[in-house]
Amino acid sequence: MSSNPIAFKGVLAEVRQAARDCKACDLWKNATQTVFGEGPSKSVIMFVGEQPGDLEDRSGRPFVGPAGKLFDRALTEAGIQRSEVYVTNVVKHFKWSPAERGKRRIHKKPRYSEIQACRPWLDAELRTVQPRVLVCLGASAAQALLGRDFRVSKDRGKPVDSPLAPSVIATVHPSSILRAQDEESRRTQMSAFVEDLRRVLQMARKVKSISKDSKRSRTPMGKTA
Ligand code: URA
Repeated sequence: MSSNPIAFKGVLAEVRQAARDCKACDLWKNATQTVFGEGPSKSVIMFVGEQPGDLEDRSGRPFVGPAGKLFDRALTEAGIQRSEVYVTNVVKHFKWSPAERGKRRIHKKPRYSEIQACRPWLDAELRTVQPRVLVCLGASAAQALLGRDFRVSKDRGKPVDSPLAPSVIATVHPSSILRAQDEESRRTQMSAFVEDLRRVLQMARKVKSISKDSKRSRTPMGKTA
């Protein structure tokens, strides 16, 4: 595993350690390593993406490649600090196929069975972090967590009733913005994404302020307004 500057402690560190040797489906065979989630173990907000990409697979950290950089920019614009949130994926090994020419590794969408095989790790993250606001990034995460009929195009940015967290919401995957046809639509899509993230921050502040649970100390959310 390549060096990771973040120190992990407690139950989550144990689960992360156990996930390193996961062979619950075949994806481990072509991946460099398991890419587990990262962030404070008591984060108010948890973001869930689809699966690690090429750079995540090499570095062992979620959302550090091009989509991750865009995600970081959007978080900053929305007033959310990445260091305060937990970021993970529904699938923890990179699924890819070789490009027809060259050495590029092309992302392949995970199958339902692979998402199911990986689910115990995500459930362990949910049980441990107990986020107050759960955010699905893109259709794979939304359909895995909210049901196969969930349509991000129709229901993004709207609160969803779910036993998984007090507030649950889905938005687009940051890589969809990277795939925008032209600069203008990229800008429009980025604004809509940032708008959804601002809603996430509002939800986090709201659930925090109405929470009577004083035992769990959580970091304050985002910049003070
Ligand atoms: N896309 C994801 O869904 N997750 C990552 O970690 C990186 C890109």
